[in-house]
Amino acid sequence: MKGLFIVFEGIDGGGKSTQIQMLSDFFDSKGYEVERHMEPTHAVIGSLLWDYMNSKSRSFDPETEALLFAADRIEHGKVIKESLVKGKVVISDRYKHSSLAYQGAAGVDVEWMQSLNKHALVPDLVILLDIDPDKSLERVSDRAKTVFEKKEYLKKVRAEYIRYAETGELVVVDALQSIEDVHEDILAHVKKLTE
Ligand code: TYD
Repeated sequence: MKGLFIVFEGIDGGGKSTQIQMLSDFFDSKGYEVERHMEPTHAVIGSLLWDYMNSKSRSFDPETEALLFAADRIEHGKVIKESLVKGKVVISDRYKHSSLAYQGAAGVDVEWMQSLNKHALVPDLVILLDIDPDKSLERVSDRAKTVFEKKEYLKKVRAEYIRYAETGELVVVDALQSIEDVHEDILAHVKKLTE
């Protein structure tokens, strides 16, 4: 049996962590073996990216960011594949569309990024937790912000995500609803994959 690869996308503060936990509990309760992943990863290249994102300023060129995220993703892809071959459900907090949206919004050539990411796996489902940055930044106001969490920039990132949703690569879930309603919407999409 082949596993399932599900990705959560969206700007910071959209509730990804909560929803990933709930979906992972759902699969668990149905007897599936579930793994939670994230990008950046906590492997060598991903750790460098976390240090960078928590630094004082966005000092790398966005092209450098795109290269590093893509490199982290190539290594991550191998780990995901191993789990999928074993029939596991892999839920990842971010994948390729984070690069297309975040680095795309910073002006990086999308064709070039698509080619850097051409070996990325095609997920079974990519869920966009969509929220206005005015609201999402309110939600994260208590914690330290990464170099990417600036309102005007996140508005552009959101617009990029919506562009990919319009092509059908992502399904959109309104993240402003209650936690339970967001979960129900996600389950409706997931059930289409498993029935
Ligand atoms: P995030 O997922 O918001 O983690 P947390 O909520 O735990 O802080 O942080 C990851 C950041 O990485 C987010 O701001 C988007 C950025 N990012 C990119 O810019 N490009 C990428 O390709 C990926 C995977 C992430």
